[in-house]
Amino acid sequence: MSDALLSVSDLKVTFRTEDGSVEAVKGIDLEVRPGEVLALVGESGSGKSVTAMAILKLLPRTATVTGSISLAGRELLPLAEAEMNAVRGAEISMVFQEPMTALNPSMRIGDQITEAILNHRDISKAEAWKRAVEMLQRVGIPDPARRAKSYPHELSGGQRQRVVIAIALACEPQLIIADEPTTALDVTVQAEILDLIRRLAAESGTAFLLVTHNMGVVADIADRVAVMFRGTMVEVGDTRTVLTAPREAYTKKLLSAVPSLPDIATVIEREPETEVPAAVLELDAASVTYRRGGRPFLALDGVSLAIAPGEIVGLVGESGSGKSTLGRAALGLLPLSSGSITLFGEKVGRGGVSGRRERALRGRVGAIFQDPGSSLDPRMTVGRRSPSRCSCSVDASRPPRPGVGPGWPSCWTPWNCRRTTPPATRTSSREASASALASPGRSRWSPS
Ligand SMILES: Nc1ncnc2c1ncn2[C@@H]1O[C@H](COP(=O)(O)OP(=O)(O)O)[C@@H](O)[C@H]1O
Ligand SMILES: [Mg+2]
Repeated sequence: MSDALLSVSDLKVTFRTEDGSVEAVKGIDLEVRPGEVLALVGESGSGKSVTAMAILKLLPRTATVTGSISLAGRELLPLAEAEMNAVRGAEISMVFQEPMTALNPSMRIGDQITEAILNHRDISKAEAWKRAVEMLQRVGIPDPARRAKSYPHELSGGQRQRVVIAIALACEPQLIIADEPTTALDVTVQAEILDLIRRLAAESGTAFLLVTHNMGVVADIADRVAVMFRGTMVEVGDTRTVLTAPREAYTKKLLSAVPSLPDIATVIEREPETEVPAAVLELDAASVTYRRGGRPFLALDGVSLAIAPGEIVGLVGESGSGKSTLGRAALGLLPLSSGSITLFGEKVGRGGVSGRRERALRGRVGAIFQDPGSSLDPRMTVGRRSPSRCSCSVDASRPPRPGVGPGWPSCWTPWNCRRTTPPATRTSSREASASALASPGRSRWSPS
């Protein structure tokens, strides 16, 4: 047909669910050329991951896949599982969002790369280990011979993702499918991983199908862009054209959602402050000290911050800078070692209101955490999930528990509350947000 390495045509994926069938991908065409980085973009739920998993034939049994997926002229859909196993890793590899779930925590990283090589190559274990060390070097792990003997938990998030990429590259596949490979990483580390992907694509001629919802990532490294919307392919073109002269209205909308610094400056200029309203949340010289191996560690050092009604405050900083600690302290999940917190004009905690009054104030603050999967009860339908349904109340006489502040009920994550027996459901981040909104508070904290 063409010079494409991967050629997808009229791909349809339908899931059988309890509530009928869900058409996740509605007949899309897609081509990945040798050595190129093709970004597959679109909002959450548009069908990007389902497309990626369909190519790898890793969808659950509830999925029906039709159409054609061919890799270097070979049809993948009719292949039996054993044949597909030989393709995965050797011809197409994958890199997913969360490196920790892709790695085996109890195996040295060198052994994990070695295992991936031995699955597909007939070489000795010693040769495979040597190659594993070379791969670590290629993905930029310093002192690779020594690092090969490390366990995943001994590496940083960025280094772990480098190891996952090393495993993906180990058998020199023609195509690597990377689904949101940088989303779980710090901004500075994200840039390093993207640089690495760009370099590897150029050096080794490996093609990348990069699934992302981040247009910034696209501009940085993709040769071409494919835009998906509700299971359909909206637009495909070279990156420059799609980003600077998008044909389709949806692509324009997607691009306009990317804030640029001058835009932000304009917004700020347009809204001059007339009077400063009273803060809903105020931290005054707040400090938090953790104990690390018996030694005190100052995680938050005298931070002052005020959030006005209706205001959105972005708290940024690299991993470990104290962002989540600040959020947890603001929620009352961590005790302050000094300083104070004022909620809706009343000081809470030490030297402030306590008991019923404190509970009432704290009840007005909602929280949205990073991972909606772990924030929501998988046994409850979305509609039934709401913190206000939990009838347990804060017990100020409770001793502080690790990770949970003093006076917090054991069911502060309401799904731990044994007073409810919920049915099953699927959930998402929007539902986590809805859940946070369901509490009557006006101040919401959303740690990333
Ligand atoms: N196992 C499944 N069963 C039913 N529906 C699913 C399943 N997996 C994904 N979907 C649905 O398919 C659609 C596309 O999902 P997905 O490919 O994960 O989106 P994206 O990766 O673009 O965010 C969504 O509507 C999602 O709810
Ligand atoms: Mg996805």
